[in-house]
Amino acid sequence: MSRIGKTTEYQLREARESDAEAVERLAKICQPLRASVKGTYEYMVLGFKRYFLLALHDDKVIGFIVGFPSLEGDVWIYQIAVHPVYREKGVGEKLLGEELKRLRSDNRSVVRVRILESNRPSMSLFKKFGFKKKKKVGGWVEMEKRLNTRRAVKTQITSPHMEVSR
Ligand SMILES: CC(C)(COP(=O)(O)OP(=O)(O)OC[C@H]1O[C@@H](n2cnc3c(N)ncnc32)[C@H](O)[C@@H]1OP(=O)(O)O)[C@@H](O)C(=O)NCCC(=O)NCCS
Repeated sequence: MSRIGKTTEYQLREARESDAEAVERLAKICQPLRASVKGTYEYMVLGFKRYFLLALHDDKVIGFIVGFPSLEGDVWIYQIAVHPVYREKGVGEKLLGEELKRLRSDNRSVVRVRILESNRPSMSLFKKFGFKKKKKVGGWVEMEKRLNTRRAVKTQITSPHMEVSR
């Protein structure tokens, strides 16, 4: 196994159903994240594979991110986690960066996440990517990021039309 460090090579790939057990195992040691059960991760793969990404080191799952679009079209980041041994080496950043790249290329314009107010590392990670605090829900902070997508630009251009037709 190669050494773990800032320069360690990690691979990212989309999750498969067969990864669900490894993801559940990892989630369970990543508090304060509320781990879901294997079956939930299997369904997340079935429904949202493009937004369910794994970070691998030596073929071992060391991190993951899952997002899903709502019926309204905005996207929720459901969970992001990195194995404690691999933290603060840029893995979380790589996962969130790729997720946002995919969302942007799919013309998703709004991304949201809810984070425990006390979860400083996560809050700081999302802030680094331009997420802004929107509201508090119990002990949770809802953060949001607007992506510059083609659709967002198009809406701006056509907005006078929309006003006329109302
Ligand atoms: C949040 C988490 C995914 C970050 O993963 P990571 O691989 O350690 O993050 P990175 O090394 O890519 O760091 C990226 C940024 O995150 C923030 N960050 C990461 N660890 C941090 C820490 N211990 N304290 C403060 N900020 C931190 C920083 O802004 C950092 O940028 P910087 O290096 O320029 O300071 C990881 O801490 C984790 O798995 N936490 C437990 C699970 C969880 O709470 N998930 C969120 C709920 S869904």
